[in-house]
Amino acid sequence: MQSQSLKLTPEMVANPYPVFAALRESAPVHYVEAFRGSYVVSRHEDIAPILKNTTLFSSKMASVSALMPKELGEDVLRYFRSENSLLSSDPPQHTRLRTLVSRAFTPRRVADLEPRIRELASELLDAMLTQQEFDLMADLAVPLPIIVIAEMLGIEPERRQDFKRWSNAISQSVTLTVGGLDLEWIATGIREIHSYLEAAIERRRREPGDDLISALVTANEQQGGFLSSMDVIGFVRLLLFAGNETTTNLIGNGTLALLNHPSEMKRLAQDASLVPNAVEEMLRYDTPAQVIFRITTADTEIAGTPIPKDARIMLLLGAANRDPRKFPNPDTFDITRDTQGHVAFGHGVHFCIGGPLARLEAQVVFDELFHRVRRMSFAPGQEGQLDYGTTFSLRGPKSLRLRAERR
Ligand code: HEM
Repeated sequence: MQSQSLKLTPEMVANPYPVFAALRESAPVHYVEAFRGSYVVSRHEDIAPILKNTTLFSSKMASVSALMPKELGEDVLRYFRSENSLLSSDPPQHTRLRTLVSRAFTPRRVADLEPRIRELASELLDAMLTQQEFDLMADLAVPLPIIVIAEMLGIEPERRQDFKRWSNAISQSVTLTVGGLDLEWIATGIREIHSYLEAAIERRRREPGDDLISALVTANEQQGGFLSSMDVIGFVRLLLFAGNETTTNLIGNGTLALLNHPSEMKRLAQDASLVPNAVEEMLRYDTPAQVIFRITTADTEIAGTPIPKDARIMLLLGAANRDPRKFPNPDTFDITRDTQGHVAFGHGVHFCIGGPLARLEAQVVFDELFHRVRRMSFAPGQEGQLDYGTTFSLRGPKSLRLRAERR
């Protein structure tokens, strides 16, 4: 190719959008060796049909273990080779798994959580706002999703810190990062979570409770028990990984968008009925999960570019969500815009199963936040100095030091 290419640099992680715009214009489909040898796709009109076409664009080989560093060792990688992985299977296998899992992860179960999420968010916010200066990530956006998922799974409160560490270890092992990884630390985290979950699942089998792991074990038994223990562990691990940092990033990126657009913050603070659409715009404008992968099952082409069989396809969801052909003035953050068709939760059969939960958490957070504060601003020295860490695929600020004007 071509005039523009994708390179992972700290600058790119901090602000990928100018690069995305150039890619959409001049190289909407291009091969990048450095990204695990992937064809990178950036236009909405190409990404949405790929996600719909599971026959030609498989999730199978995009399996997590294929993306993980081989140096983690066979005893760790084998955990990720489950036969029945929701995220890495295609129909009809995926349909069977999704049906089973959906019986445990029902909209009702999520809706019932609202009072508890509100209570947790309120506690965290009240503690955060006693400080003149606070870190919205450490005080709110990081702990809330981990506590919610840990409680859903029935994890003991004293293991929450371990859960967060394990979740970080998993996400580091599979995400695209700038620079080296601490493989020993990652491997230890993965071994620990596996032995914890093995015991937890065994306990739920003997004594089911009303938590999500029990619901999964029960749904599996009702369906003839086709999931192995390793499959169940794999699914719980997926929930932990998929539901944690993504939701943290939604809250962090959303807050940042409001800070950078004070008139939108003012509108939201004045009218709580705008919160649900504002959250959709946050998902579109600064997408928490930037990248997903597929593998071609036959020779094909994307937007006129020939692609061979077994090629890895990297879909830039964040670029699709800023595509001007889909969203007029895409770089404008407008909390009342029509966000229909954003792909922040994917599209098609793998559409995020936790979308309703993530939406609920973010809506409760912004609702409760603006109940308490009129406006927020960067703490002195914070603006323009944001640390995005090293991860590109799950992208968000690592800390947000702020001040708030209370009501
Ligand atoms: C799937 C994003 C929150 C669980 C996905 C996919 C995306 C995504 C893009 C599609 C992957 C693909 O097609 O390959 C997000 C974002 C979130 C979020 C941006 C928060 C803002 C959650 C939560 C949970 C969750 C809270 C659960 C607790 C899952 C699962 C799948 C999935 C299990 C796999 C579904 C399947 O393969 O059928 N998510 N997610 N996610 N997500 Fe989420």
